[in-house]
Amino acid sequence: MKDDITREERVAGLKGMGCSRKRVEDARFTQGKGNYVDDIKLPGMLHGDFVRSPYAHARIKSINIDAAMALPGVVAVLTAKDLEPLGLHWMPTLAGDKQMVLADGKVLFQGQEVAFVVASDRYVAADAVELVEVDYEELEVLVDPFKSLQSDVVLREDLVAEDGSIPNGAHGPRKHPNHIFTWEVGEEEATNQVIDNAEVVATEEMYYHRTHPCPLETCGSVASMDKVNGKLTLWGTFQAPHVVRTVASILSGIEEHNIRVVSPDIGGGFGNKVGVYPGYVCSIVASIVTGVPVKWVEDRMENLMSTAFARDYWMKGKISATKEGKITGLHCHVTADHGAFDACADPTKFPAGFMNICTGSYDIPVAYLGVDGVYTNKAPGGVSYRCSFRVTEAVYFIERMIEVLAIELNMDPAKLRSINFIKKEQFPYTAALGWEYDSGDYQTAWDKALAAVDYTGLRAEQAQRVEDFKAGKTRKVMGIGLSFFTEIVGAGPVKNCDILGMGMFDSCEIRIHPTGSAVARLGTISQGQGHATTFAQILATEIGLPADSITIEEGDTDTAPYGLGTYGSRSTPVAGAATAMAGRKIRAKAQMIAAYLLEVHDDDVEFDVDRFVVKGAPERFKTMKDIAYAAYHQAIPGLEPGLEAVSYYDPPNMTYPFGAYVCVMDIDVDTGVPEIRRFYALDDCGTRINPMVIEGQIHGGLTEALAVALGQEIAYDDMGNVKTGTLMDFFLPTAWEVPNYETDFTVTPSPHHPIGAKGVGESPHVGGVPCFSNAVQDAFRPFGNRHTNMPHDHWRIWQTANSLGMHG
Ligand code: CDP
Repeated sequence: MKDDITREERVAGLKGMGCSRKRVEDARFTQGKGNYVDDIKLPGMLHGDFVRSPYAHARIKSINIDAAMALPGVVAVLTAKDLEPLGLHWMPTLAGDKQMVLADGKVLFQGQEVAFVVASDRYVAADAVELVEVDYEELEVLVDPFKSLQSDVVLREDLVAEDGSIPNGAHGPRKHPNHIFTWEVGEEEATNQVIDNAEVVATEEMYYHRTHPCPLETCGSVASMDKVNGKLTLWGTFQAPHVVRTVASILSGIEEHNIRVVSPDIGGGFGNKVGVYPGYVCSIVASIVTGVPVKWVEDRMENLMSTAFARDYWMKGKISATKEGKITGLHCHVTADHGAFDACADPTKFPAGFMNICTGSYDIPVAYLGVDGVYTNKAPGGVSYRCSFRVTEAVYFIERMIEVLAIELNMDPAKLRSINFIKKEQFPYTAALGWEYDSGDYQTAWDKALAAVDYTGLRAEQAQRVEDFKAGKTRKVMGIGLSFFTEIVGAGPVKNCDILGMGMFDSCEIRIHPTGSAVARLGTISQGQGHATTFAQILATEIGLPADSITIEEGDTDTAPYGLGTYGSRSTPVAGAATAMAGRKIRAKAQMIAAYLLEVHDDDVEFDVDRFVVKGAPERFKTMKDIAYAAYHQAIPGLEPGLEAVSYYDPPNMTYPFGAYVCVMDIDVDTGVPEIRRFYALDDCGTRINPMVIEGQIHGGLTEALAVALGQEIAYDDMGNVKTGTLMDFFLPTAWEVPNYETDFTVTPSPHHPIGAKGVGESPHVGGVPCFSNAVQDAFRPFGNRHTNMPHDHWRIWQTANSLGMHG
């Protein structure tokens, strides 16, 4: 048999790995044909809305629902008392704590759910919310974690024994009623010894402010209990639908096979949609009670005020070095404000996530990390907002410590990084705090980045600008922000990563149809990352069928294999690996079929792009399409009919993408307005599946980094009022603020991942935040600045300039 197209054309026709294939999901998104939770409309569906607490800390003396119930269209008003007989007035959190579904005797943060109104439409429900009368007795509010640890005011009365003693929490002993856990990694004594005897030591305290992932689509769910068949269907904004199914089964007592959880299209998650929210539970209960479907969709203010926050870490660092700049030790202590309930989304054994990657990209011989979690009167959550669990905090910490150490050493911060990078030949590298980094070539990436921006030239320009400023020739200062980051993504090996006891593997199931098209289902769920495009590309390369002939499905627990979902850039490292492995199982069977069809031994055929060929006789081959047809329609001795495979992948390690970023910024000291002149981002995510999707991920991640570094904050006043609960106050960058990003890459494959890929979606956020922040700080460094806290909004930047005497 002869072929009339070249091998290159065959490769191109697959649109496999490495191809900038256009996103297949965009046709429906750009034409308004997406199907989001709020698009789901079922016959007879009711709508739920919450009565929320205006107070951050108050006892509830009484709740009167009479007026609300009297409003035409109102079907039910649920309070904690109604949920108590079902055991659903509290629910477990992902962090091993428990959280009130509806306020049980007291409220602990502003916006907390107090009652759930169910009505014929959303407007009636909202009107009825206003008619529920709640009598509150205000209590002292604690929004400062340091004061909380000193206070006599007990926030979580449920966590203090009757004799006044403090029982252990999910992560061990607690020192105070408002204390959640202490988590320690590394060697404190040895670290202190090194630091105490070091030639140079830099210390710094920094606050990584509370912020919020703020996805375009807020959280919501539609529950439909079919009492006749005993089946519950739950549509929702879930980043981990299978986990939701398991938790819903445990909470409700409904057997898991009778629960179907569907994540339809999701309009961004960024960590916000990992947790389980009272709205999900209340919509389920309301559907069980009323016997009809019930929808709950929160509004923007509810999303910002009550669903998962991010960060809120008070970090204290000490770093030591020789006079030549070789780092010798690192000490870090974090006071972590977790709000009213510990609802952080972290693997069970890591109560502060992967904060223990805070030694960053540097070869630091000895280190210690201690984290104290604290309750305050703020919303619960603690999710990894576009980063792997707490990695943004860790990278921000070390990248700021490097900058202050450079000041202490009077050394160029780029050079200081070079001196301390983990070297290429040291990989796999075990860091002082325990992680084994899989692969990296940091110096090559760094050199490429510095050369691309002409770093030496930039520093000369900056020096000139300082002189011009001092001479009164300009009112603009110039900052050069540097960051070098290592992410840790792909949780994770089941042996050390689980959530609520569920091991963090992932899965892919493939069915090849007789005509050579395929459907693959995964345990992950895209929230805009383009999985339908890129996972088909992995398969195209692995099984030799065109990506255009492969449908990717995710998010329906009735069809998809069990998986732990999408967050922490785990999809490619874990589900991507499962996809490749399932593809290889298909290929192994296809090889046997091909050998039979070609009448040779299995070992005498080899895979080539889209076919198996007889070794040494390339004109004798069977395409994967031929093989798929034969798999179903030809009796092959010793083989079952069909061509399907499933893989559950437990990764041996996480993957460690890295990158080198440079931001050049001009700042008007009189207005505090920063102008980003240049932003260069070099990312290394190992094997690149779709360069165009990667580019999009980087643009998005950098923009969210800009937001966090330059203005985005969930701020509270002393009374626990949220001051930034609307998009008037909570900064979301627009095209106006976003600069032109220059992207670049190196490729250092992961040695343990089947296709060498590492995650990428979150890297730009992780590296971007310190880069933007360092640019601001660097602009003021020649004038005496050492560290100022984010977010660097115009007012704070102006204050920095003012405090440095730059206003006259
Ligand atoms: O878990 P999540 O999808 O958020 O993050 P990811 O695994 O970093 O993937 C984000 C998107 O980038 C997906 O569409 C991936 O397939 C794609 N990607 C890629 O093309 N090449 C890589 N090496 C990593 C991710």
